[in-house]
Amino acid sequence: MPPGPRGFPLLGNALHIPAINPWLTFMEWGKQYGSDIIHLTAPGARIIVVNSIDVAVDLFDKRSTVYSDRPYLPMLCELVGLANWNIGFMSYGDHWRNIRRMFHRYLGPQEAKMLRPTTIRHTNNLLNKLLSQPEKFLDHVRTVPGEMILEVAYGIKVTGADDPWLRLAEEGNDSAIAAATPGRFLVDLLPFLKWVPAWVPGAGFKRLAMEWRQLNTDMYTLPYEMLEGSATSSVAQTMLSNVDVTDVPEYDEYLMKVRDSTRFITICTNNVNSCSSIIAVLKTFFLAMVIYPDAQELAHKELDSVLQGERLPDFHDMLSLPYTMALVKEVQRWHPVLPLGVARRTTQDDVYGDYLIPKGSMVLPNVWAMSRDTKDYPDDPDSFNPARFLGASGQLDPSVRDPDYAFGFGRRICAGRHMASDSIWIMMASILATFKISRRKEDVGVSLERYTSAFIV
Ligand code: HEM
Repeated sequence: MPPGPRGFPLLGNALHIPAINPWLTFMEWGKQYGSDIIHLTAPGARIIVVNSIDVAVDLFDKRSTVYSDRPYLPMLCELVGLANWNIGFMSYGDHWRNIRRMFHRYLGPQEAKMLRPTTIRHTNNLLNKLLSQPEKFLDHVRTVPGEMILEVAYGIKVTGADDPWLRLAEEGNDSAIAAATPGRFLVDLLPFLKWVPAWVPGAGFKRLAMEWRQLNTDMYTLPYEMLEGSATSSVAQTMLSNVDVTDVPEYDEYLMKVRDSTRFITICTNNVNSCSSIIAVLKTFFLAMVIYPDAQELAHKELDSVLQGERLPDFHDMLSLPYTMALVKEVQRWHPVLPLGVARRTTQDDVYGDYLIPKGSMVLPNVWAMSRDTKDYPDDPDSFNPARFLGASGQLDPSVRDPDYAFGFGRRICAGRHMASDSIWIMMASILATFKISRRKEDVGVSLERYTSAFIV
């Protein structure tokens, strides 16, 4: 087995794994044991943590048939029921494969480009909100990605911060993040607890699970019902209209016949689920701009010289704005929003180098450790420094590791990454082109870093 701290009988390392920011401890253990791959145990679970990109690529990319399953967390998968319809938590197999293929068809690289006008419209909406109520910037950052993704997925036009669709999406997302945070619920460590009746004192998790199950069911049934007879263009509507196309594969026809198919709904609701990651990236961006005003200033200068104060940035400006692009990359590297990625599970025993990785192990990519690797980022990886991505000429240096590992690896790499990358670039570039972000007077000298320690921080 890979090295790791010695565990206690029965409990294993359960008491060693910190509840707060475990990725930091996993990274330290990697250094202490001199290994990019470490091994821990918890009751009923064997955990493998991958602390380097090279090992992640070897396992998740090159041995993807063994490492593409997801672990079974009773709270998330069974009690809340997310593994039934959320592709991100679904077991690896034909059902997942079919949905994944469709995801690619509607959100692949070319399809994501078609969504750019919508992204720009929502970005402009964000700018207007920031202009009229700058003090509520966190509310705007929280709502705009949800508005955008609800429109893309279902054609739903949100009417304001209290819009019921937006609230449903937010509450659904929050519950999914909470249920997906490993170690948050005892039932994930002691699965027999799932049989405890909801009325038993201490079984609050069961009542919570029932509430979240309903919320998540609403999330995939209600918007779908609204689509009936709607002419608004959206991923969902496009899929429905494809029914008449003669060359669509049999699978699509089946899908259209089974109107309430979870397969169909999965695509759209997952889009909505995923906006939490975009929100988290934007919050980190605001934080970095306050803490590192020099970086912000350099981006302002670059944007001013290209745009001449006459227009907002557009996607065709990407290549002319290397510093801004480097800043967007650095936001993703400096504080990865999914510090432990999304866990995998091995479907068979595997031998990697000298190590045995048994079937059924939970394998965690420690994205945080990867972002701090001094081989890739020799210059103080804890500090925010967009220039690390630039060469002497001021252009992007292709030899510097791109932080795209924040989107995962192999067959289960983020299915919405093209759209997500576009959205965060245009939003950050547009905000920088129009605003100066600085600390409130009353916050001078106060630490502003308040990250949660969850699945998505
Ligand atoms: C900056 C924003 C985002 C980040 C950092 C992010 C990151 C991730 C990561 C780390 C995974 C797990 C990959 C793995 O297991 O290796 C993932 C999965 C996924 N993401 Fe994203 N994501 C973002 C935005 C989005 C958006 C906007 C969408 C949809 C439009 C999306 C759709 C998905 C889906 C469907 C999966 C599950 C893939 C599977 O299990 O097969 N993501 N994402």
